[in-house]
Amino acid sequence: MSTGAPPDAGGPDPRVMPAAASGFGAGADDYERGRPSYPADAVELLCRELGIGPGARVLDLAAGTGKLTRLLVPTGAEVVAVEPVAEMRERLRTGVPEAHVLDGTAERLPDVGRPFDAVTVAQAFHWFDAPVALAQIAGVLRPGGGLGLVWNERDAREPWVAELSRLIRWDERGRWRVPYTVEEDWAARIEATGAPFGPVARYDTTYRQPMDPDTLVARVLSTSYIASQPEADRAVLAGQVRELVADLGDSFELPYVTVAYWCRRDP
Ligand SMILES: C[S@@+](CC[C@H](N)C(=O)[O-])C[C@H]1O[C@@H](n2cnc3c(N)ncnc32)[C@H](O)[C@@H]1O
Repeated sequence: MSTGAPPDAGGPDPRVMPAAASGFGAGADDYERGRPSYPADAVELLCRELGIGPGARVLDLAAGTGKLTRLLVPTGAEVVAVEPVAEMRERLRTGVPEAHVLDGTAERLPDVGRPFDAVTVAQAFHWFDAPVALAQIAGVLRPGGGLGLVWNERDAREPWVAELSRLIRWDERGRWRVPYTVEEDWAARIEATGAPFGPVARYDTTYRQPMDPDTLVARVLSTSYIASQPEADRAVLAGQVRELVADLGDSFELPYVTVAYWCRRDP
């Protein structure tokens, strides 16, 4: 998957999966507008467990437009953010000027200087070649340093959200394959790689994203494999999404289940 080669000027980044390279590149604005932040309890727990605070050094890997990065800055830690897609990186630099932003992939990290106390990965570990990425992460963490992962998943217990997922996943099942299922047990996946990390702990919580029809359309259109589709297909999907939420009014909430995992690098 990862070639380590630098991206061609203007083209999709060959170092990351095609759906991520073209999807996130085309959809950076929709991504920033439509994607959720992360719940305070999950972020606080990860910061506590991973020792992210004043004097600590943290790497936010696959930082995107900085949705988690900007929540790490107020902890007082020194924040470095790595993101391979140029359009996302641009939004990250303007949105989170306090972070030191670098180009790079999980499979081939750039020179990040002295070891980190913690590495975080939000909504992105599923894009990585896990064994390669874990070896790279172990290489930039100090012994005993922490790794934290977090995902928001739409909470399909609400019927309209289940229908939204069905609309989005029609495409996912059909033309585009995305390396991610909501049922994935990442603790087991990480432990099975034999990477030098201790037991993986898990925390489940919920999050409600303030939403309106336009933002929901941006959220759907920012999905990696939808962002890179022809405008006509995207317009059809946008219409279906508007119809789905027509009865919810101008302001409603999109519920998520949030799952966080953390572990420590072996001493
Ligand atoms: C769903 S976004 C998450 C972004 C951000 N962490 C957040 O919480 O909003 C996934 C990000 O992973 C990045 N990505 C995909 N493959 C990657 C890889 N192999 N190494 C590093 N980042 C990668 C994408 O460019 C994208 O910015």
